[in-house]
Amino acid sequence: MSNKNLEMEKTFSVERNIIDCFEYTTNFSTIWEWDQTISSSQKISEGKVDVGTKFLVNLKFGFQTIPMEYEIMEYDFPNLAILKGESKHFTAVDTIKMTKIDENQTQINWHATIEFSGLMSKFLPLMKNKIIENGFTTIDNLKIALQDNYSSSPTSNLLDRLILPKIWKFSKYGFNNAKDTWHPNSASITGKHIVITGATSGIGLATAIEMAQKGAHLTLVVRNKVKGEALKKELIEKTGNKNINIEYCDLAIISEVKSLTKKMIEQKKNIDVLINNAGALFNERQITSEGIEQSFALLLLSPFIFTERLIPIFSLNCRVINISSGGMYSQKLDLKNLNNISNPYNGSIAYANCKRGLVILTELWAKEYNSKNYTFNSMHPGWADTPGVVTALPVFYKITKHILRTPEEGADTINWLASSTEAGKLNGQFFLDRTIQTTHLFSKTKESEAARQELKNKLSEYLE
Ligand SMILES: NC(=O)c1ccc[n+]([C@@H]2O[C@H](COP(=O)([O-])OP(=O)(O)OC[C@H]3O[C@@H](n4cnc5c(N)ncnc54)[C@H](OP(=O)(O)O)[C@@H]3O)[C@@H](O)[C@H]2O)c1
Repeated sequence: MSNKNLEMEKTFSVERNIIDCFEYTTNFSTIWEWDQTISSSQKISEGKVDVGTKFLVNLKFGFQTIPMEYEIMEYDFPNLAILKGESKHFTAVDTIKMTKIDENQTQINWHATIEFSGLMSKFLPLMKNKIIENGFTTIDNLKIALQDNYSSSPTSNLLDRLILPKIWKFSKYGFNNAKDTWHPNSASITGKHIVITGATSGIGLATAIEMAQKGAHLTLVVRNKVKGEALKKELIEKTGNKNINIEYCDLAIISEVKSLTKKMIEQKKNIDVLINNAGALFNERQITSEGIEQSFALLLLSPFIFTERLIPIFSLNCRVINISSGGMYSQKLDLKNLNNISNPYNGSIAYANCKRGLVILTELWAKEYNSKNYTFNSMHPGWADTPGVVTALPVFYKITKHILRTPEEGADTINWLASSTEAGKLNGQFFLDRTIQTTHLFSKTKESEAARQELKNKLSEYLE
C-alpha cells in the first residue's frame, strides 16, 4: 500500500435478513442517511440497481461539497457488491460482502480502499487518522440504520406555532434544515401493493418513481389514457420495475370512483398503502356532470369514497396517507359551504376547507380503525415546484419560485410514511418533513366534535 492510499475493513453482524441488508446498503441513493460525511446522494442512471448503476454522492468538505460519482462494478445479489467512486481528489473502491447467518441475521464485511491524488495526497498523513475514524463511525451508523429500531418521530416545537417560522419551514430551506434530524429509513417495500392517485405529475409522480425504484407493486390512478401509458413507460425505463398497473378514473366523478373501487375489490389484490394525492386548486367554480362542485368532489368527497370503499381489501397494517396542504391552517371547517354552490366562490377557501376536512377525516378514521392495525396519517408537502402550483397560483409561483422545494422533497414524507418502521407506529397524525405538526395555528379554526361527526355523516350520504 503506497503512502497515497488508505485501506479500511470491518466485519459486523446485524439482526436483519440478508435481502433487506443488501438492497439498502448497496443502493447509494440513500447513503446520505447513514454516512455523516455525505450531504446528499442520488441515483443518476436509469433502470434497476445492478452492474453499471451510477450514483452521484456529495461529500462534505468544510463549507464545500466534493461531488463523487460511484458506479457498481460487480453485483452478485445478495452477497457481493463492488462500487467504485471517483472524484477530482480521490478514487475509492468499496467491496461489500454479505453472508446469511440465519433468516434474520446477516454478516457484513466492508472493505474500502481510497487512493488520493494531487494536493490531497500530500496532506494524507495529516488527515489519515480522521478519515479512518470517520470510516468506522459510518459503519457503526450503517449497523444502526439496518437495525431500524428508532423509538419515535420528532414533534414540532413551540416555535412552529408562530406563523413566520412555520411558513419558512414550507420552503426548501425548511426541508434541508429538517433533514438533519431524520433517522435512516432502511425498511423494505419490495412487493408491497401501493395505490397512488394523481401520479402523472408533481408530487404524485415523484412518489411513484421512488416507490417503483424500491420495488413496490404500484396501482396508479390516472384520468388520461395518453398520460397513463407514458407514465408506465417512464417508470419502467427509470426503475426497471415492471409491476406497474394503471387504472383510469376521473376522480372528480364519484360514479367513476365507485366503479373503480368495485373493480379493485373484484381483483382482490390487497392494498398495503393507499395514497390519496390527486388534487388541484380551482380558481373558477365548476360543477361536475354529477352536479357537485369540483373542489369538493376531487379534494374531499373522492378520497372519502375511495378510501371507505377500499377498506375491505386493506392488508393487515395497511397505511393510508392523505395529502393535505398548509393552506388549511387559515380555514375552519365550514360545513354549510362544503359543496361551494351557494356562496360567492373563492377557490383558495374551497381548497383549504376540503384540505381541512381531509385532515379531520384522517383523525376520525385513525380512531375508528385503530383496533384493526390500519394507520391513517395526513401530511402536507410544504411548497413544491409542481405543474399544479404553476397553473393554479401563477403570482405565488413568480414570487416564491426560488425557494420552492423539488417535487421529490415534497414527496419525501409520503415515502417515509408509506415505508418506514418508525411511521408504522404512528396513527392519526399530521406531518411535514417527517415531523408531527399541530393541526391548528389559531384557536378560531378549531371545530367541535359534533362538527367532525357531521362532516363524516354528510360525506357518508354519497357512499352508496
Ligand atoms: N405543490 C405544492 O406545493 C402543494 C402544496 C400543498 C399541497 N399540495 C397537494 O399535493 C397534491 C399533489 O399536487 P401537485 O402539486 O403535485 O399537483 P400537480 O402537479 O398538478 O399534480 C396533480 C395530480 O392530480 C391529478 N388529478 C387532478 N385532477 C384529477 C382528477 N379529476 N382525476 C384524476 N386525477 C386528477 C393530476 O392528473 P393530470 O395530470 O391528469 O392533471 C396530477 O397527476 C395535491 O393534493 C395538492 O393539493 C401540493
